[in-house]
Amino acid sequence: MLRVEQLSHSFRNAQGRIPVLHNIQFEIAKGEMAALLGSSGSGKSTLLHLMAGFMKPESGNIYIGEQDIVRMNENRLAEFRRKHIGFIFQSYELIPNLTIRENVELPLAFQRISASQRKKRALLLLEQVGLTDKTELFPSQLSGGQQQRVSIARSLIPEPSIIFADEPTGNLDTQTEEEILSILSRLNKELHTTFVIVTHEAEVADQMGRIITLKDGYLMDEQKLQTVR
Ligand SMILES: Nc1ncnc2c1ncn2[C@@H]1O[C@H](COP(=O)(O)OP(=O)(O)OP(=O)(O)O)[C@@H](O)[C@H]1O
Ligand SMILES: [Mg+2]
Repeated sequence: MLRVEQLSHSFRNAQGRIPVLHNIQFEIAKGEMAALLGSSGSGKSTLLHLMAGFMKPESGNIYIGEQDIVRMNENRLAEFRRKHIGFIFQSYELIPNLTIRENVELPLAFQRISASQRKKRALLLLEQVGLTDKTELFPSQLSGGQQQRVSIARSLIPEPSIIFADEPTGNLDTQTEEEILSILSRLNKELHTTFVIVTHEAEVADQMGRIITLKDGYLMDEQKLQTVR
């Protein structure tokens, strides 16, 4: 489903080049739920943004299905992202002046789908995340956990093959974190959507089928990691 090959990335600032990711290489199978674990500054968000096609790496390949998203031109990539890639942000990123249902429908706005179909699908997803009674409210009228459930529904609406989430429970209390993680894991099982979820908490990563660990921009060996734990 996802294959990252010899991926390296640096940022540039006034002082020069800052290497952030070094020769990263791994694969994630369709339907897997993988954690991307590492401490602050280890490069998790950078790697996630590269895999989601938000920016281009300095070198390397990123295959989603058969397609290398690094080699795609911007127009093609934008279209590919809309259809195949979902993203969940730590801070939800809902549009404040749209209702919950309108927020969930938004990714379908550019697609040839009738308004009634769009609405039907949004309501179904909102039901799956337990928000049937909130669909006509605005984001500010919801708790953090509820807003994150809206953003999960929104990420799923185009039926993407893979969803990337950057610390989706980072702003939430422990109990709400558990709720969100169990919703993600249920959706992963029911819909077979592949998930890559960034976290800096080992306890969160332990709940995923697979753990990919970054340390200072280097991929840790999964085998070794298991013997250490
Ligand atoms: N736009 C940028 N320009 C320059 N340096 C950057 C930029 N974005 C990230 N970095 C640097 O890259 C490194 C990795 O950052 P990244 O955000 O990927 O870490 P992270 O693992 O997601 O950390 P956190 O857990 O704190 O979110 C850090 O040293 C950071 O300062
Ligand atoms: Mg980050």
